[in-house]
Amino acid sequence: MVTPQLKEKDLGLRDFLQLQKQQALEERATTFTAFSDEARRRGANTYARMVVSPADRKVVIQDPFSGKLRAMLMFASNNYLGLANHPYVKEKVKAAIDKFGVGLGGPPLLNGYTRLMSELEARLAALKKKPAALVFSSGYGANLGLISALVKENDRVLYDELSHASFHDGLRMAKARADSFAHNDLTQLEALLKADGKKSLNLFVGVEGVYSMDGDMAPLDKIVELCHRYGAFLWLDDAHGTGILGEHGGGTAEEHGVEESIDLSMGTFSKAFAVTGGFLAASREIIEYIRYFARPYVFSAALPPVLLAAVLAGLDVLEQEPERRTELRNISQYAAEKLRPFGLTVDPQAAIIAIRVPEWMNIRRANYLIHQRGIFLNAIEFPAVPENQQRFRISLMVNHTKEDVDLLAAVLEEVWDLERKLIKG
Ligand SMILES: Cc1ncc(COP(=O)(O)O)c(C=O)c1O
Repeated sequence: MVTPQLKEKDLGLRDFLQLQKQQALEERATTFTAFSDEARRRGANTYARMVVSPADRKVVIQDPFSGKLRAMLMFASNNYLGLANHPYVKEKVKAAIDKFGVGLGGPPLLNGYTRLMSELEARLAALKKKPAALVFSSGYGANLGLISALVKENDRVLYDELSHASFHDGLRMAKARADSFAHNDLTQLEALLKADGKKSLNLFVGVEGVYSMDGDMAPLDKIVELCHRYGAFLWLDDAHGTGILGEHGGGTAEEHGVEESIDLSMGTFSKAFAVTGGFLAASREIIEYIRYFARPYVFSAALPPVLLAAVLAGLDVLEQEPERRTELRNISQYAAEKLRPFGLTVDPQAAIIAIRVPEWMNIRRANYLIHQRGIFLNAIEFPAVPENQQRFRISLMVNHTKEDVDLLAAVLEEVWDLERKLIKG
């Protein structure tokens, strides 16, 4: 086993972030590259590990530290339902290539709108129990597009403080008047709704179904009720619930039985469907409006048939193999119990488990040690989260076995012990 070279004191990302404000671009880029290379040399940079096999519970990577190929147990992928390497999905994608070729070369409003896209819109609308849907090239773009198209200067947005970066960027793009409320804090949300007192022309509320950095759910039934009471339009970003929650995989709203009360549902193809792309589902009028006013939709090329075919095939699997959702739920619950002793940030309610990293622990060194033991994990570090809230974010997939989870727990235990010793010694 390679001894960790990383010293106790981190490489000073905070210092770099301060320093860069005073540096001209060339100097800034050179300093950062040197910083990042040095971090890799010392084992402190596990980003962008190169995967050379299909995405599955086990992957083969080119190890950035040894340069050799090695098998890793994957707990960092949002391929929750194992569709990335599903034989039926692959067959459908191959057939779509033969029939439609690989791409289109243009945005949907011009030459990029295809029969597969229209078919997918109809299937997604049905999945979300809405009259219409619209497909974007990414979930990020879908959030940007939805907020910047819908919010005007006399409107106001209230949103959960833990909303995804794409939501924040959408608010910026729309130059929206916006206030956050504490995570899942309904009292604060209600106070903000009440305080607005119909001063805003349109009042929007934005929440996530399953929060991406913790894995807990929004209390959607109560949020729906508040939005109705105060006449607010409710957006739901269900990136991590779509396909895995609810009897039919309709997501967090289906799980809560409130699908028809959500004004607009957003989802991605980058999680349960394991490819890329995003979508919105709402009334026909709202969707048609967004189609012509969402800049990421209007000014970006359409998803090619190959990706649309992968999502259509994924929807078939959701219908034909509902047991995948049950199995995912079972293995996620098993993992939550097994990993609870390490300290979870919240009680996980879907397939994401966030393990709190104690303040005394060096998260980068810990992730290097975990990597050296053949486990591929995501370390969620500052500045993505505050320094005292760093965590390991574990994503379960349906193909994980109990033995995989046991191995993960054993490795964490060993690394936690080693870290304790390294800090003391
Ligand atoms: C909650 C949430 N919304 C939106 C996105 C963006 O989705 P995509 O990766 O499809 O661009 C993500 C992805 O990380 C997410 O977790």
